[in-house]
Amino acid sequence: MNADLITASATTLRQRLGHRAPKVAVLLGSGWGPFAQQVRDAVQVPYADLPAFPRLAIGGHAGQVTAGRIGDTEVAVLAGRKHTYETGEADGMKGAIRTLAAIGVQVLVQTNAAGSMDSSMRPGELMLITDHLNVVQRSPLVNEAGDKRFIDMSAAYCPRLRAQALTAAQAAGAPLREGVYAWVLGPQFETPAEIRMLRGFGAQAVGMSTVPETILARHAGLRVLALSLMTNMAAGMDAQTLSHAHTLATASASSERAVNTLAAVVQALEI
Ligand code: HPA
Repeated sequence: MNADLITASATTLRQRLGHRAPKVAVLLGSGWGPFAQQVRDAVQVPYADLPAFPRLAIGGHAGQVTAGRIGDTEVAVLAGRKHTYETGEADGMKGAIRTLAAIGVQVLVQTNAAGSMDSSMRPGELMLITDHLNVVQRSPLVNEAGDKRFIDMSAAYCPRLRAQALTAAQAAGAPLREGVYAWVLGPQFETPAEIRMLRGFGAQAVGMSTVPETILARHAGLRVLALSLMTNMAAGMDAQTLSHAHTLATASASSERAVNTLAAVVQALEI
């Protein structure tokens, strides 16, 4: 990713945002799209106008930044991610995250859809990510030079922000589960044997995103918070056959509660 593209994206984004100065960015995953409608005093900037941002294959409202306020918190909400399974490259969101850092964003709140590997955590529930397993063993920092690339991942998901999120969700009547997220490449779902392996490794949820962006954000000096919406029980854990349509259907059925909880969490963050 060319540094000039990041500078150009940051300049355009700052101009379009006007008086808005978000310190929090929220990256929306499957099922979380309606969150962007909760932004007040909103301005929209398509990824297509920001040269460091990814070009997305999917239509709809994906591929757009919505900046404004959630309560008193100034936010930049990003609808649309480039996934590693699309190209094999883990750095699809590098330019976007570095642009956010360049405009002064300090916290990245990530959301995703995931399969539950904990039989007590059911579809529709939200899990606060406490840590992750980079099962794919790819990094968006390959090809970086210098010592800064050797980032510490021992508190990748900020303990202070996590504590604030737990309190806020509890107060909003939507307590969060907590657990470890395992990143798999996809796009195929897992086999039951793979799920048994990941459970044995100590993960409670499995999904195809988030980890590369966490690594990029930590490298850019941002603090990270992440929420997973359980859309299904993982392969072999119930009789359900997995499909993307099923993921989206469950996500959409649970999205109202999920986005309301996210709004409560975002408003409570102390930056
Ligand atoms: N596996 C991987 N990714 C997912 C799943 C799953 O079961 N559900 C939603 N995203």
